[in-house]
Amino acid sequence: MKALIVLSIVFVVNVYGADQRIDPLVLINQGLVRGQKATDGDYSTFLGIPYAKVDLDDPFGPARAAPSFEEEIFYANEGTVQCPLTPFSGYARAAGISPVESVDCLQLNIFVPSQASIRNPLPVLVWIHGGTYLSGTGHKFSGRKLLKHGVIVVAINYRLGAYGFICLNNPAVPGNQGLKDQYVALQWVRDNIAAFGGNPYNVTIAGQSAGSASVLLHLFSPKEKLFNKVIAESGTPLSPDMFTNGDADAALKLANYLGLNTTDDQQALDFLAKSHHSLVTGATHDLKIEFKPCRENSFSGVDIFVDNQPYSLSNSRKVRNTPILIGNTDFEYRGDVRQMHGNEFFDKDFFYSWIQNTFVMENEEVYTAAKIVRHFYVGDKDISSDVNTEAEYFNSDIVFNHPIQDTITRLINENASHVYEYVFSYVGDTGLSGAAHSAELPFLFDLYGDFGELMTHSSTEDDLLMVDRLTTLWTNFIKYGNPTPETSELIPVTWSPVTANSRPYLIINKELRMETEERFLKERMAFWDLFYSIYGQYNIFA
Ligand SMILES: *[C@@H]1O[C@H](CO)[C@@H](O)[C@H](O)[C@H]1NC(C)=O
Ligand SMILES: *[C@@H]1O[C@H](CO)[C@@H](O)[C@H](O)[C@H]1NC(C)=O
Ligand SMILES: *[C@@H]1O[C@H](CO)[C@@H](O)[C@H](O)[C@H]1NC(C)=O
Repeated sequence: MKALIVLSIVFVVNVYGADQRIDPLVLINQGLVRGQKATDGDYSTFLGIPYAKVDLDDPFGPARAAPSFEEEIFYANEGTVQCPLTPFSGYARAAGISPVESVDCLQLNIFVPSQASIRNPLPVLVWIHGGTYLSGTGHKFSGRKLLKHGVIVVAINYRLGAYGFICLNNPAVPGNQGLKDQYVALQWVRDNIAAFGGNPYNVTIAGQSAGSASVLLHLFSPKEKLFNKVIAESGTPLSPDMFTNGDADAALKLANYLGLNTTDDQQALDFLAKSHHSLVTGATHDLKIEFKPCRENSFSGVDIFVDNQPYSLSNSRKVRNTPILIGNTDFEYRGDVRQMHGNEFFDKDFFYSWIQNTFVMENEEVYTAAKIVRHFYVGDKDISSDVNTEAEYFNSDIVFNHPIQDTITRLINENASHVYEYVFSYVGDTGLSGAAHSAELPFLFDLYGDFGELMTHSSTEDDLLMVDRLTTLWTNFIKYGNPTPETSELIPVTWSPVTANSRPYLIINKELRMETEERFLKERMAFWDLFYSIYGQYNIFA
C-alpha cells in the first residue's frame, strides 16, 4: 500500500473551466479522502481526518491506530471535534458542554495550496495549539494566510487535561499522553503528507504557549526526530506554568470525588473511563489538579517521552541540527493579572505566594527571597491594585520572558546551529501599552472561536502589512531554515542568529528592526539570572 501512495495523488484536473469547483480526492494509508476546494483562495482543505483513535475503554492510555475508511470515501469537511477541555480560572468557557467535545478527538486539519503536487512537494508546517494543556483545539487555526507562500499547513488536536496529562507512577499511565498523541500525529504526517503534495522531510513543528513548550519537548525527547525545524512562540517547559511534578494520586482523587472510594489506580481509571468526560473535567477543575507535562518514571517496555525535569532536559544531537525560531511578545501578561484574578489578587503578597509555590525553602528564606523580588518590582510601594502594571511585568518575566531567555541560553550551550530570536511588539492603532500573549497569532492564522465563528480582526493597512511580513518571515524559515535569506522592500532587514556571545533579536513592530546592542529587557533579565543563580537550586523542578 505504502509504495502506491506517491503515485496515487488524485488532485482532479479541472476540465470544466476556471470557475468549476472540483473537490480533491487523495489516497492515503487509511483509504480515500475527499477534501474541498476553497471558495476564498487558491487552496483546498481536508478537515477532521482521524490520525489515531482513542480507546474509549482506556481513554487515558496510548492512542490506537487510526481507523481505515474501508471501501468508503472519507469526507474531510468537518473539523470541529474538540478534546474535552477543563474550565479554569479566568478562562471560563461558555456554560454547558460544547456539542463537539469528544474523548475520541485525535484529528487534524490540512490546508493545501493548489501549487502542491507530487512533482512539487512543498514544505510542511505542523501547528500545535496552546491553552495550558487544558483547552484549545487545532480546529481554531486556519492556515489560509500562509498558503500563498507555498507551504502546507497541518493543525492537530491532542488530548488535554486528565486525558492527556495524568501522570501516575504506573506503567499503564506514565504521563504525557497528550505529547505522545502529538508524536503520533507527526508519524501520520511523515507517512501520509506526500499524498497531499507535502515533503515529509521538510517539516517544521511550531506552536504557541503550551504548544511552544510542546515543540521544545519534542526537540528534547529521546524519540526519533520527525521534523527538521522548530518554531517556539511564547512558551517553554522552563516556565513554571508549563510543567508539573505530577500527582501520583490524581486518579484516586478524581474517582473519589466522583463517588468511588478506592486505593487502586486501575479501578479508579476504569471508573473514570466510564464517567462522562464533563464529570472528569469538572472534578479536575474543582480539585484544582494540575495536568501538565511531567517527568515520567521509567517502566520496562513502556515508551518514555519526557525523561527528565525541565532544567535537565537536553538532546544535543537533535538540538545541534535543528534551526530554531523562538521568541515572545513584548508584554505577555498585559491586562491579564486583573482579568484572571480580579482585584483580590492584590489582597495578598503575590511575590511571596509565587516564591512559596515555586521553591522548596524554609519559610524565613521564602520571606527574604520574596522581599528581594518585591523591592525590585515595586520598591517600597504597598501591594494594591496601584501596582497592577508592576504585577504584569513580574508575571511576564517569571512565566515567559526569563524562562524563554534561559531556554535560548541552554540551546546555545547545546550548540544549536541557528537560533533566531524575536520580540513581537506590534499593537497597531489600538493604543495598547504592549503586545500581550497571543498577539501575533491573528497575523499568521485565521482564528475561529469556540463555536466555529471566524474571529474578526481589525485590518488596517498596517495590519495587512504585518500579515505579509510575519507570514513571509515564518514561511522563509519553514522553507529555508532562515527567515531572511535575502532582503526585500517588504523585509528590509537581515535577521542574524544568536551566538554564544551576542543576543541580537528582531523587533517585530510597525518597523522591523534588529536590536544588536542590548539583550531583551537586559536589567530585568540580569536580575533573574542572579536570582536563579542563588535560589535556582531550591526550585521545585531542580
Ligand atoms: C474510603 O474507604 C476507607 C477504607 O475502607 C474508609 O476508611 C474511608 O472512610 C472511606 N472514605 C470515604 C470518603 O467513604
Ligand atoms: C559544544 O561544542 C563544543 C566545542 O565543539 C564542545 O566542547 C561541547 O562539548 C559541545 N556541547 C555539547 C552539549 O554538545
Ligand atoms: C524545503 O523546501 C524548500 C522550498 O521548496 C526547498 O528550497 C528546500 O531545499 C527544502 N529543504 C529540504 C531539506 O528538502
